[in-house]
Amino acid sequence: MLKKQLLMAALMATPFFSVQAQELKHIGTETAAQKEQRMAWWTHDRFGMFIHWGLYAMPARHEWVKHNERLTNEQYQNYFDLFNPTQFDPKAWAKQAKAAGMKYAVLTTKHHEGFCLFDSKYTDYKATNTLAKRDLVKEFVDAFRAEGIKVGFYYSLIDWHHPDFTIDYVHPQRPADNSDSAYARLNAGRDMSKYRQYMRDQIKELLTHYGKIDILWLDFSYAGKNGKGKDDWAAVDLLKMIRKLQPGIIVDNRLNLEEYEDGADFLTPEQVKVEELEQFRGKTWETCQTFSGSWGYYRDENSWKSTHELLQLLIGSVSRGGNLILNVGPTARGVFDARAQNALGNIGDWMKGNSESIYGCTYAPTSFAVPQNSMLTYNPTTKRLYVHLLEYNSKVVLPGYKGKVKYAQLLHDNSEVKFTADGDNLALSLPEKKPAMEIPVVELVLQ
Ligand code: GLC
Repeated sequence: MLKKQLLMAALMATPFFSVQAQELKHIGTETAAQKEQRMAWWTHDRFGMFIHWGLYAMPARHEWVKHNERLTNEQYQNYFDLFNPTQFDPKAWAKQAKAAGMKYAVLTTKHHEGFCLFDSKYTDYKATNTLAKRDLVKEFVDAFRAEGIKVGFYYSLIDWHHPDFTIDYVHPQRPADNSDSAYARLNAGRDMSKYRQYMRDQIKELLTHYGKIDILWLDFSYAGKNGKGKDDWAAVDLLKMIRKLQPGIIVDNRLNLEEYEDGADFLTPEQVKVEELEQFRGKTWETCQTFSGSWGYYRDENSWKSTHELLQLLIGSVSRGGNLILNVGPTARGVFDARAQNALGNIGDWMKGNSESIYGCTYAPTSFAVPQNSMLTYNPTTKRLYVHLLEYNSKVVLPGYKGKVKYAQLLHDNSEVKFTADGDNLALSLPEKKPAMEIPVVELVLQ
């Protein structure tokens, strides 16, 4: 899919892959130690909720519907006129996020369609002018903060509604023949500098009207011919403004500032398989993932991931030193649909018993080999090692662990697991019957 290719190209162009660290330029003066401190809560918390909500919840067939079906603003207008989320209750969203063990949440304040969930003074294309009649971002912020969840804003750099946003190759009105003359004709009268100012003004609103904002998730760049990148966004100046307004904020890597050491705080591998996360070990990153492939509510998409797969994404991220942000696409009524509620509930059941193997954890020291059919995480503060049993078997061998383990227990109920030495290995004696946990975890207290 076009989108995925664009993102992977952007991702592989990060400094970590292409430029030697010493060649990188700097925008600010923050030291590595200061950055680590600024990001400490995020690195510790590991697990967040993404929320993609906008007018696209109404067509309910992908948040890129306007692009996919080349819809004009006029054709899209019904969704604005009829948007009426009568069951919007962000307190219920926040409770579900909290129960699932999520520690931060990032909401789409504006997605590529251009519709603003917040009360911006720079546009009429906003929630306050729909039947919802209120600032939905404000209510989100209040509700999530009240549950002790950190709040983040997603803001789309792309805007398929704004009259000055120039037509590029991902725009719904992109020319079929892709010719320079067609772009020139379509863009006559559009002034990207006005859009640039609009975007800057709106980001300023978002960062000044809602108190402390913990994360800013800007999305996305596709530099090159008929694409858009850092110059189109005036990205360096924008980032300076962001850091000035919210010094503690954590910003993603989609501004196309790869040539700067401090042009981003974290990498954003999107919808990648758990094994592919291996390449990010040692970097600062968060993988963003959906339940079913689409970010916005997609009624007829049925390829939902199982609880087992979702937990593997979470454990697999932490076991490679990264975060997971898992997305919910609420319906146009304003609720999480039954499938999402069910998935979140199942994750919550697991987290209630096992969150110690997630929060504050990272990859295991290399001196610990990964036992068969398992994933390891490690808490460097408590020095406990966690063995996640992906395929349950009462006979588990810990290869080369002899002399390294003082005590072993199942994490969810602190019940002792006896072990015996077998050469250099340890053999665990686990219950014959699989404990009632989707993925049981053995906690090892190290010597
Ligand atoms: C992409 C998409 C988008 C989604 C996002 C989340 O860039 O364009 O629809 O919001 O990634 O990572």
